[in-house]
Amino acid sequence: MLIKSPRRHQLSEQQTTPESVYISRRRVLTGLGAGIGSLLLAGNTRALDLFGNDAAQAAPRKSLTFNPHEPAPDLVLTPQAKVISHNNFYEFGTGKTDPAENAQRLRTEPWTLTVEGEVEKPGTVDVWKLMGEIGLEERIYRMRCVEAWSMNIPWVGFELGKFLKRFAPTSRAKYVAFETLYDPEQMPGQRNRYVGGGVDYPYVEGLRMDEALHPLTILSVGLYGKTLPPQNGAPIRLVVPWKYGFKGIKSIVKIRLVEKMPPTSWNKLAPQEYGFYANVNPEVDHPRWSQASERFIGPGGLFAVKRQPTLPFNGYAEEVASLYSNMDLRKFY
Ligand code: MTE
Repeated sequence: MLIKSPRRHQLSEQQTTPESVYISRRRVLTGLGAGIGSLLLAGNTRALDLFGNDAAQAAPRKSLTFNPHEPAPDLVLTPQAKVISHNNFYEFGTGKTDPAENAQRLRTEPWTLTVEGEVEKPGTVDVWKLMGEIGLEERIYRMRCVEAWSMNIPWVGFELGKFLKRFAPTSRAKYVAFETLYDPEQMPGQRNRYVGGGVDYPYVEGLRMDEALHPLTILSVGLYGKTLPPQNGAPIRLVVPWKYGFKGIKSIVKIRLVEKMPPTSWNKLAPQEYGFYANVNPEVDHPRWSQASERFIGPGGLFAVKRQPTLPFNGYAEEVASLYSNMDLRKFY
């Protein structure tokens, strides 16, 4: 993965959401009757103006109704302004601030998601309708990028496993393959290999079936109580908290259940650096840098980061280590 130094931008700390404000809003949402997933138009049109260029008008985000994460895990949240301005979404450029600048006009509505392959009931769902009926919940997860930075993010979404069961997977379904929208007109990185970091688009990812069915694995449709901004993968993206962030494929249009391990974008590009499993592991270094510690992007000045030890399986070992009990994690990285 490319590592570039961040470009100058002008987000001030006042634009971050203090945790206290977020938490009190969560209480209000709970009081409204969570779980039904109704949508309220929030009309958030804050201009980003990240580089001093013409201000990019932030895509509007809708408020979501969801069951809050109770009890909330003891994690210091990364302020929202940082979660939505420091991104990897190479379809919109390889710089960390490129997605927030270039993705705002991505047409995310309407949006359909097709589930096919080894299922008895293949189908296509309207993602916006799904948000209103599936019963959303909040998951506050650690997020660890393979580039050794991390955040703690309050996602809103639903369990991938519960969703997949609607399509009745067959006994031949051993893996799940995911695909991002392919639309070079809207995604400059898909038009130009230099802008898109050399990735062979569409961006694809995969999970083993037991990983996909694990209750920690979610499809996220929101963060900080509102629908996802385009730069974070609107309207629907994958979140697998014990794996490196590149498994979290964004703006998904297709899910295919398959018999054989599917190809994945970073593994195709640099197999010696990025494996299929990509489990967070402080003991297996990336060939070009150590994974023993990470830079946590938390509250404080915009690039105030805290160096902290990397946790095995990103802190979720108790829940997921048993999935890999017979595997050599150095070989299957
Ligand atoms: N999905 C697509 N389609 N394209 C991408 O470039 N980048 C991945 C992942 N999903 C990426 C993607 C990487 S490398 C990371 S670390 C996470 O998205 C970043 O998610 P975030 O920007 O919401 O923090």
